[in-house]
Amino acid sequence: MVAKIFVITYSTYGHINKVAESIVKGLEKTGAEAHRFQVAETLSDEVLAKMHAPPKADIPVITPDQLPEADGYLFGIPTRYGTAPAQFKAFLDSTGGLWSKQALAGKPAGFFFSTGSQHGGQESTVLTTLPFLAHHGMLYVPLGYPHPNLFTNEEVVGGSAWGSGTVANSDGTRMPSQKELELAEFHGEKFAAIATKLSQIVANDKV
Ligand SMILES: Cc1cc2nc3c(=O)[nH]c(=O)nc-3n(C[C@H](O)[C@H](O)[C@H](O)COP(=O)(O)O)c2cc1C
Repeated sequence: MVAKIFVITYSTYGHINKVAESIVKGLEKTGAEAHRFQVAETLSDEVLAKMHAPPKADIPVITPDQLPEADGYLFGIPTRYGTAPAQFKAFLDSTGGLWSKQALAGKPAGFFFSTGSQHGGQESTVLTTLPFLAHHGMLYVPLGYPHPNLFTNEEVVGGSAWGSGTVANSDGTRMPSQKELELAEFHGEKFAAIATKLSQIVANDKV
């Protein structure tokens, strides 16, 4: 059985979208089905223009009713003040109907992230989003330390035990590095392996 994984992102400047491409590569390497979505923008065009945000990538906008179709989720979120952006929170807050039916319970989820600075809150972004998973009864799948790029100190490498990631610079000039993209691809592969096993257990239970 092939697992269907939704990669759901928010990105203002494109860094998360770039990491998501490697995540998808890793997912697909395992034979999993990867589907990309973005959450809806909540800022006005006027504010986005003042933030020098480029036009949105051509990725379908997710609606909460689509979530139960997936066997697992990788959420890509750029840090805002050490936590998730309001756009992402607005999407999570729209899942009350699913929560009331516990429609996402038992499904695995992981995170990848982007910060402006090296110590700008990659871990705290995930940590402060975990209550969403807990209330839905979803299973957080961390990355752990299975990849050598997580131990590199010779250069800046985003990502940690909490998931893959990138460091964008405060002006957005740094794009995801080779090591970060390798880690993201590996993250996709590792997550797909776990989501596939879980989805097989769920499928067998239904027989
Ligand atoms: C309102 C605001 C708050 C931010 N807060 C942080 C922060 O707490 N720590 C940090 O390192 N970067 C912070 N950033 C930088 C973003 O995390 C960075 O622009 C983002 O990771 C780039 O990803 P994207 O290109 O996918 O949007 C902030 C950016 C904005 C606009």
